[in-house]
Amino acid sequence: MALQLGVKAPDFQAMTTEGPLNFYQWAGDNWVILFSHPKDFTPVCTTELGYLAGMKSEFEKRHCKIIGLSVDSIDDHKRWSADIAETQGHMLNFPLIADLDRKVANLYGMIHPMANDTLTVRSVFIMDPAKVIRLMITYPASTGRDFNEILRVLDSLQLTAKYQVATPVNWRQGDDVIIVPSLDDKAAKAKFPEGWKTVKPYLRLVHQPGRKAA
Ligand code: BEZ
Repeated sequence: MALQLGVKAPDFQAMTTEGPLNFYQWAGDNWVILFSHPKDFTPVCTTELGYLAGMKSEFEKRHCKIIGLSVDSIDDHKRWSADIAETQGHMLNFPLIADLDRKVANLYGMIHPMANDTLTVRSVFIMDPAKVIRLMITYPASTGRDFNEILRVLDSLQLTAKYQVATPVNWRQGDDVIIVPSLDDKAAKAKFPEGWKTVKPYLRLVHQPGRKAA
């Protein structure tokens, strides 16, 4: 089956900068970000990986592990990581898969032949603790990702997995959220006894549940 949201992520074995791993075992019961980059020793990728290493603690706070991938070798990954540390100020602190035979890249559809038939594009997947794919985004090689946006989506996914809410445009932690339309007012009253603001019958805003008042 083609990879889509809601589908169980395929398991794999891979060689990484932190040794061989089995994806499911490595992930355990954490959330996971699996991302690909086109090539080692390239400028955009250097900035992306350094930045992501610098914000790893934010993902850890959310019980989310990070793993990267390209079709380069372990040796290249390791030599390049010295450049990342030197130029971006952060040592790589998550595993990078050396997918020389493109096995994982093909499994996850990370090679888009009309863009480039040998290199991976900038794919991002978020998996939940049950290994279900909850987000897929694809960026072209020429556009560096905004990993703060990936963190924002992770926050939204974790919140909406726990409460019957959705997050509105440009939502940030602490902003009001939307009561899902499938919850009628009677059921919403039980879930949100402190009330909500009805903008339209289908647009009901409520304070972010589970968040301590400032
Ligand atoms: C980069 O990371 O700078 C890059 C990689 C492949 C194509 C274009 C840019």
